[in-house]
Amino acid sequence: MATLISECSEWKDLQSVAGATTKTHLRELLKDEERCKSMITSYDGIFLDYSRQQVTTEVMKKLLNLAEAAHLKEKIESMFNGDRINKTENRSVLHVALRAKRDEVIHSDSKNVVQEVWDVLDKIKDFSERVRNGSWVGATGKPLTDVVAIGIGGSFLGPLFVHTALQTAPDVAEFCKGRQLRFLANVDPIDVAQSLDGLSQETTLVVIVSKTFTTAETMLNARTVRSWIISALGPNAVAKHMVAVSTNLKLVKDFGIDPNNAFAFWDWVGGRYSVCSAVGILPLSLQYGFSVANKFLQGAESIDKHFKTTSFEKNIPVLLGLLSVWNVSFLGYPARAILPYCQALEKFAPHIQQLSMESNGKGVSIEGVPLPFAAGEIDFGEPGTNGQHSFYQLIHQGRVIPCDFIGVIESQQPIYLSGEAVNNHDELMCNFFAQADALAYGKTNEELKAEGVPEHLVPHKTFSGNRPSLSILLPNLSPYTIGQLLSIYEHRIAVQGFIWGINSFDQWGVELGKSLASHVRKQINATRTKGMPVSGFNYSTSTLLKHYLKVNSD
Ligand code: F6P
Repeated sequence: MATLISECSEWKDLQSVAGATTKTHLRELLKDEERCKSMITSYDGIFLDYSRQQVTTEVMKKLLNLAEAAHLKEKIESMFNGDRINKTENRSVLHVALRAKRDEVIHSDSKNVVQEVWDVLDKIKDFSERVRNGSWVGATGKPLTDVVAIGIGGSFLGPLFVHTALQTAPDVAEFCKGRQLRFLANVDPIDVAQSLDGLSQETTLVVIVSKTFTTAETMLNARTVRSWIISALGPNAVAKHMVAVSTNLKLVKDFGIDPNNAFAFWDWVGGRYSVCSAVGILPLSLQYGFSVANKFLQGAESIDKHFKTTSFEKNIPVLLGLLSVWNVSFLGYPARAILPYCQALEKFAPHIQQLSMESNGKGVSIEGVPLPFAAGEIDFGEPGTNGQHSFYQLIHQGRVIPCDFIGVIESQQPIYLSGEAVNNHDELMCNFFAQADALAYGKTNEELKAEGVPEHLVPHKTFSGNRPSLSILLPNLSPYTIGQLLSIYEHRIAVQGFIWGINSFDQWGVELGKSLASHVRKQINATRTKGMPVSGFNYSTSTLLKHYLKVNSD
């Protein structure tokens, strides 16, 4: 293989057909039913239709050739085999082991990690049951009905997405009566105030979630909330009211948390891939019970199997990953909109934003060679139909942004019939179906003129169409399908990184800002405690800091 994937003939082959491919309007491509048929696939209830992508069957073949040239199969196997594919951190990438069945064997450094995973899951089950049934009580003997999970980034966004998706699920509601789960992520005192608002220390359990247990924001929030607990219940209450999830059990102990109340995970779980570890499973089990959280794991595992074993032509995460590479690297579309037509998925796009942008926003190959092409994509999104009344204007008539439409066949909520044949859920789904066609077909000058639109308005009302999207339909939104959806996107993003030849599992790009913040922190501390003048910053930062600290400018 060439050092850079862009040097191989399969990449160049795709480059040579990209321009011509987009010249055939989707209106034309969608007439070909054989083509459309070949672009619909399903697995375990998940239905994918990518016929509205700007691809021909020829292009799909070429993308599969590219997958071969990039050694995609071998890279997927390497990941499942526990090889240290996260080379810059010298780590395996084994989030799939977090949802493996108890009797499966997955090795990292010749050790079967599935046993350790299940030891922690058993501990979560036991602890969450004791909290939920009131046999684990707070310092004053009251049951702990409220949970505040403190964490940021991967230690927050995934669990928030799953919690938001579960809280309106019909069979789940009965498991969380009288319980609350809240998140505290931002170091902003506003988030502290909001997350603790109305809670009583006596009935609150705090879960500190941090892979490293060093993240500045999380640790300051943890100390702040510890003071909040101690102020009402005294220092001995920490043992009953604070637990932790981390890979750094030493720092957990130094913080003052009983090691028995620490839930481990491992360095082979990337932060943004950690929702299936205790990071997500502990808060979710406390809120909904372990059996619900376990169904979520089972859904993710179903897709892991599919990803590992299904041929690429029918492999949903592989197809999605290849299509994203096509859109970004060959058609030059730098963004992707994630548009779930389901309010319960309102936190899905923010989670995928981190998962995708922190994973694939890289400038060099895994060997450290600067990339001559842009990897990664700009992910954003909102549930439909809300997004339609916000940013869809730009998607329809402004820039071309490939869209992921995600729909759910059966609504989570009962439908209050207004007496009309088309109920609320149908109305939602009408939009799900219509938007994809509006983007693909557009509306021509001729059509507008035939409708009698005045000449001067025709250019404004014209839709060029030929804008790509794909549609994913889930049978329902249950713990199981939420797990499936998560796993599909995790693997899709890994596929993109494998093709681009980058390391999707490190995140050095977040370090510089952290270290500069630490210089500022030292300055603020020195000014506040010793009256030290602001120094060592450029003119702009120094002026801003002085203004913030209200110290005299020189
Ligand atoms: O934003 C950088 C990052 O390191 C993420 O990758 C991670 O999910 C987040 O910070 C939180 O880290 P930790 O779980 O170690 O507190």
